[in-house]
Amino acid sequence: MIGGFSRTLAYENPNIILESIGYDSADDIDVAAIACQELTYYNNAPLYEIRYQKAIREAKVITARKKSDKNDGVLLRKNGTYLITGGAGGLGFIFATYLAKEYQANLILVGRTTFSLSHERKIEELIKLGSHAQYIQSDVGDGESIKKLSAALQLKNIELNGVIHCAGMIDDAFIIKKTSESFDKVIAAKALLRVIRIFYLTCCLKIWK
Ligand SMILES: NC(=O)c1ccc[n+]([C@@H]2O[C@H](COP(=O)([O-])OP(=O)(O)OC[C@H]3O[C@@H](n4cnc5c(N)ncnc54)[C@H](OP(=O)(O)O)[C@@H]3O)[C@@H](O)[C@H]2O)c1
Repeated sequence: MIGGFSRTLAYENPNIILESIGYDSADDIDVAAIACQELTYYNNAPLYEIRYQKAIREAKVITARKKSDKNDGVLLRKNGTYLITGGAGGLGFIFATYLAKEYQANLILVGRTTFSLSHERKIEELIKLGSHAQYIQSDVGDGESIKKLSAALQLKNIELNGVIHCAGMIDDAFIIKKTSESFDKVIAAKALLRVIRIFYLTCCLKIWK
């Protein structure tokens, strides 16, 4: 997460050169020596995300994936069941449409707002594409709400093949102009604790079956 923040900050202000260094606190490493090494030997490495794992230095790079047959993937399967948090939103619905069209998936769209005509239309659209789809109201930023959602899925014997986490809100501004209120709002569905709550959902996951 901090790597992404550093990258954004450096894009917003090119005078800032940042490098984020990750390490496992369980590893017996000399953090000061590593920082020193990064600032000297690797000092021309803006936008780098580095991590040390058992004293081995790894740099994060983006590589193109080989084009492969969509059916060779483990995660996406025909008629698979996928829960999409924020599934009725912009990104979520793109994934939902894709999964409906290409995999005739069973889709569970999750959002905070009560079921409305707009949700109904989206569900109909997915059904027309050959999918089974339903909307469930739940706030993934709220632990109790997530527990209830997970219990409801288990009660209905719904086994998920995947959870796609698209819930979030956008309140874009340059970091220098960000207020803590805006930050808190945006981070609500993304922050670590919230994401850990997604764990409850993953209890319903049957990815490897
Ligand atoms: N769009 C992009 O190009 C882009 C690029 C990179 C990253 N992102 C990130 O991806 C996320 C989604 O973007 P988007 O463009 O799809 O936004 P969007 O159209 O506003 O959709 C967000 C969806 O998330 C739901 N949601 C928000 N908070 C929730 C919560 N606590 N629990 C459950 N559902 C929640 C909203 O529904 P309710 O209001 O009903 O809850 C809404 O349907 C954002 O966090 C954004 O930062 C977007």
